[in-house]
Amino acid sequence: MKLTVSRKAHFNAAHRLYNSKWSEDKNNQVFGKCNNPNFHGHNYELIVSVTGPVNSETGYVIDMALLKQIIKQEVENNLDHKNLNLDVKEFESVNPTAENICIYIYNNIKTRLDSNLDLEITLYETPRNFVKYSGI
Ligand code: NI
Repeated sequence: MKLTVSRKAHFNAAHRLYNSKWSEDKNNQVFGKCNNPNFHGHNYELIVSVTGPVNSETGYVIDMALLKQIIKQEVENNLDHKNLNLDVKEFESVNPTAENICIYIYNNIKTRLDSNLDLEITLYETPRNFVKYSGI
């Protein structure tokens, strides 16, 4: 028997989408306004879902205070109020799309969880656009 518990979080960050191997024309064609050289911001909303058995001693899948702390340390401290392209070394060479930010968040949190717990990250870049990653 496995259950899923989730916690919401958010962070604000700026980014620019471009491929340094492409011409300015091609970058504008593919990324449009997101290629603005002066960057632009998003209010990212995040849902972190952890699936696993209920621990017989605690009654928890995971202590939500611990999950809150992990999200703060692994996501908010690294990304909140940052320029993703300039301030986060993982995005020096990787385009900071919602997809790649979602993978970054998954990888950072996954290393902090017990191996019997599964993780799924849902990242909203806008209220209507969101991406999910569960390591598959
Ligand atoms: Ni954007």
